[in-house]
Amino acid sequence: MATYAEPLPRYDLSADEVAQLEVLLADLVRSERDPGEMRFHDDAWEYAARLPTGLRAALEDFRRTDPAAGLQIFGLPVDDTVVGPTPGDWQAAAASVRARREEFFLALVSRCLGDVFGWSTLQAGRPIQNVLPIAGEEDQQSGHGSDTLLEWHTEDGFHPYRCDYLLLFGVRNHDRVPTTLSSVRDVQLPDDVRRLLAEPRFYILPDDEHLRQLAARDPHHPGLMRMIRMRETPEPVAVLFGAADSPFLRIDPFFMRCVDDDTEAEQALKALVTELERVQQDVVVGAGGLLVVDNYLAVHGRRAFTARYDGTDRWLKKATVTRDLRKSRDSRETAADRVLV
Ligand SMILES: [Fe+2]
Repeated sequence: MATYAEPLPRYDLSADEVAQLEVLLADLVRSERDPGEMRFHDDAWEYAARLPTGLRAALEDFRRTDPAAGLQIFGLPVDDTVVGPTPGDWQAAAASVRARREEFFLALVSRCLGDVFGWSTLQAGRPIQNVLPIAGEEDQQSGHGSDTLLEWHTEDGFHPYRCDYLLLFGVRNHDRVPTTLSSVRDVQLPDDVRRLLAEPRFYILPDDEHLRQLAARDPHHPGLMRMIRMRETPEPVAVLFGAADSPFLRIDPFFMRCVDDDTEAEQALKALVTELERVQQDVVVGAGGLLVVDNYLAVHGRRAFTARYDGTDRWLKKATVTRDLRKSRDSRETAADRVLV
């Protein structure tokens, strides 16, 4: 077992591959399709087949063999002028067509790993979300905060239908604000602590963002009601699961407590938190970079930064991907739907 953080594997697009991609992305931009709408993702398989073979092979290997907690893809140029200033909020970012090319790239890479899906409680269920600082939300534990460290977490760790992969594409990050990442594979813990963490002795509550956005827009929405129920009567869950000698994890310490104030469970959780902090690494998602986070192996967060709100702030595009959309059928209106209510 590693005693330090393993560097993430990377895939560097060659000049030929970038040229091939530019043709594909230009075709898509001309088509005036909208990767911000779910319909596009139903047809994405066809376009994903035109991605460079080497990139598809790397993604297939990452998907099938769980080689690491993350994968970085480098090399797609982003024109800082064409994408326009960083918008002031996610609604303005969603309405803008200037970064469509970048959204198409994110959508097609996502398709190679599984199915893109959204949450009715987040950014109006949109499949491509925008991570950018919003004035007035500096201290929020969300993709819109800035001044406050975004505590590391499993993405939507409270939810059984959370994503397998979280993808972050850098549109702009002049200040090189780091994303933080720790892998469960780098953690060292005694066997008895691991065994305890694999027992359902923990609650993970829905994070504020799932409750906040709809509470303001549509306070009686069934998706919001479901999240409130999950917060009030959470199911006990294990933090480590899967193979005992190489477990997956789900953890969000900021929103967790132990069943019956179990001190043994609390100590085990604390030991895991300490280890995940010890092996934490900074990963900068710069312009044109794409970070794929394996949400079963990694936790992620973000360092604090000072937002300027002058159009030059950090701006990422985000997608969540499931390997098996079918398992969430009871939370989607139809089998073809990609939004979890
Ligand atoms: Fe997150």
